[in-house]
Amino acid sequence: MKLSHKELRKKFFQFWKARDHKEVPPIPLVPQNDPTTLFTGSGMQQLVPNLLGAPHPLGTRVFNIQPCFRSQDIDEVGDNRHTTFFEMMGNWSFGDYFKKEQLTWFWQFLTKELKFNENLLYVTVFAGDKKNSLPADLESRKIWKDLGVAKNHIYEYGPEKNWWSRAGVPDNMPPGEPGGPDSEVFFEFTQIAHDKKFGDHCHPNCDCGRFMEIGNSVFMQYKKTDKGFEELPKKNVDFGGGLERIIAAKSNDPDIFRSDLYLPIVEALEKISNKPYRENSVKKMMRVIADHLKAATLLIKTGVFPSNKERGYFLRRLLRRITIKLLKLKGSLIKVEDLDMVVDSIVEMYKGIYF
Ligand code: ALA
Repeated sequence: MKLSHKELRKKFFQFWKARDHKEVPPIPLVPQNDPTTLFTGSGMQQLVPNLLGAPHPLGTRVFNIQPCFRSQDIDEVGDNRHTTFFEMMGNWSFGDYFKKEQLTWFWQFLTKELKFNENLLYVTVFAGDKKNSLPADLESRKIWKDLGVAKNHIYEYGPEKNWWSRAGVPDNMPPGEPGGPDSEVFFEFTQIAHDKKFGDHCHPNCDCGRFMEIGNSVFMQYKKTDKGFEELPKKNVDFGGGLERIIAAKSNDPDIFRSDLYLPIVEALEKISNKPYRENSVKKMMRVIADHLKAATLLIKTGVFPSNKERGYFLRRLLRRITIKLLKLKGSLIKVEDLDMVVDSIVEMYKGIYF
């Protein structure tokens, strides 16, 4: 069953409001007064002080849908699921509820609200990190079991897959940085056969494309210090789920570029190039153009302009890549009116949200 992005947004809002969460307004794609990062890369960006213990004016339960830009993913764009721009559906607990409520609620959201088939969902938990004396997350494993998740749908991974901090694995975290074990949910596209190029056996974190991560519950309970890890004063939840990916999973279509958050752009590109997206030789080009043009449009809307440094440089890189790919796609320079038509499709889909 297809799910529209507007329907999904509505369901997500209603779900968290019914559980006493307040909406924390999303921040711009370019964070203000935060010199630590060029772009907003996750929903928790504005909440770091609260995860470290500062009270939040809206209380201990918040949620939102945060536009994000991850420049580090630029070279992965072109497959069925990677993009530089995406929207993160998030909910947070600041020392309020913890693992049991979080995993139960997200499971309910997927299986009751969105009516996902449980047999196609898999979960992962943290296996521990001996080097940093961080224990395995046996509690989450038990919660998933109690929720009825079959034993062979629960997988364990080490810190490279089931630990989250802005800096990545525990070893890479600077002192002062919060982080914690996480538990992810994956959707299985049974129509995709495992590709042995990626290993003998398929599993949720295999890169063959059969599995897609749709949500990540991070249990923010540690802070890195000079001497190792210490418990934060409060145990927090930091959840992030990809809006575009949940739509793709719900539609049982592994190609996020066929969801209503990309299809209008792809159709506009088909029109101006007179080439069908389904052709393999054009598919990758159209995906890159669609992602980059959307990211560039939203960055420009935020006030970024092409330049030779920092944010402006990334925007310039996006624009260069768009120009080259458009030239290859069409075989000649495209008209300004044609480009306008593609950008209009982006503005139209986000009317009332970002425009
Ligand atoms: N902060 C977590 C993430 O970005 C939820 O995946």
